[in-house]
Amino acid sequence: MQGCEKMNSQNVPDVSRVSRIPEKPRVLITGGAGFVGAHLTHRLVQDGYPVTVIDNMTRGRLSNLSDCLHRIRVVQADIRDRAALAASMGGVQVVFHLAAQSKVIEASKNIEECIAINVAGTANAVQVAREVGVRRIVFTSSREVYGEPAKLPVMETAALRPKNPYGMSKVAGEMCCAMARADGLETTIVRIANAYGPGDYDRVVPNFLKNATAGLPLIVNGGDQVLDFVPVEFVVDCLIRAGFGSYVPGPLNIGSGSGTTILQLAERIIALSRSRSRLEVRQRGDIEVSRFIAGTGNAARLLGLKLQTHSLAGLEKLISISENRVMRARVV
Ligand SMILES: NC(=O)c1ccc[n+]([C@@H]2O[C@H](COP(=O)([O-])OP(=O)(O)OC[C@H]3O[C@@H](n4cnc5c(N)ncnc54)[C@H](O)[C@@H]3O)[C@@H](O)[C@H]2O)c1
Repeated sequence: MQGCEKMNSQNVPDVSRVSRIPEKPRVLITGGAGFVGAHLTHRLVQDGYPVTVIDNMTRGRLSNLSDCLHRIRVVQADIRDRAALAASMGGVQVVFHLAAQSKVIEASKNIEECIAINVAGTANAVQVAREVGVRRIVFTSSREVYGEPAKLPVMETAALRPKNPYGMSKVAGEMCCAMARADGLETTIVRIANAYGPGDYDRVVPNFLKNATAGLPLIVNGGDQVLDFVPVEFVVDCLIRAGFGSYVPGPLNIGSGSGTTILQLAERIIALSRSRSRLEVRQRGDIEVSRFIAGTGNAARLLGLKLQTHSLAGLEKLISISENRVMRARVV
């Protein structure tokens, strides 16, 4: 039975459709060798789903998938290549579309490429998905779509005022989803806050951790920015529910619902890793959004999930994994 998708005054779909995906369908993860994608791939393989990954390996690494490479199909190709996308979608019912220029600063340095990957690539993904009969696509949008919000926490009904090319490209990606939805493809939009966990690199949490472990100064650009950090395992839980549960168009904020300043984050990492590193505070750039706390009521209600722990609760586990890795490297 299918219900209808209601829109509120700001055109934010807010009602789930009662439509369930059959047991263990074949799944495609675009960007499946990246940080979030590799965590999602591992979870789905563990849960018995047949998984295909398409990734051009610009930021992704095959080694992120080494534990499950023998159980998945990997297509090393670009989402701008329609033929490769079509080939990777054979027999697929659910697509998790994660492939993107995911770095705000890189996107600002090369706007053309950002649009080609994040907008044209997403248009490709939804179009090919529709053509080959995919049932549902889950699109990983970002907190950056809101720009600097008028108030915290930010609800999904807040104005979309992206302040950088990355945020703009994610708004446009959401529009690609809206277009495909009108054509009958189930599209679910999730707006992720700041995910952290093992396997990430070149972002604030792994950078702080790397320097704390090496006894180097932690470079804090600004420090008073308030961000919503959320363990990657929780993001994966949300994606799985969005992919296989009752259909929820979203958009849904995926975050912890609490804020941490960058300074607090740095101090916490130093304390937890018992590091002697000092903080080096520098002037911050203005490209990235500086205040975000996700309003998570809709995600909790519609996906049936609530973050149980503090937003930084995953740090201890992350630090112990990274300490073990350093120890192993020393032994070898
Ligand atoms: N990590 C976060 O905190 C966060 C927050 C908000 C939104 N998101 C979004 O979630 C998704 C996953 O994020 P992530 O942190 O895993 O990023 P990531 O950069 O680690 O992963 C993206 C993957 O996409 C691949 N890729 C890039 N361009 C491609 C192309 N043209 N064709 C095929 N593959 C391509 C990369 O090689 C990489 O493996 C992204 O869409 C990102 O914008 C992430």
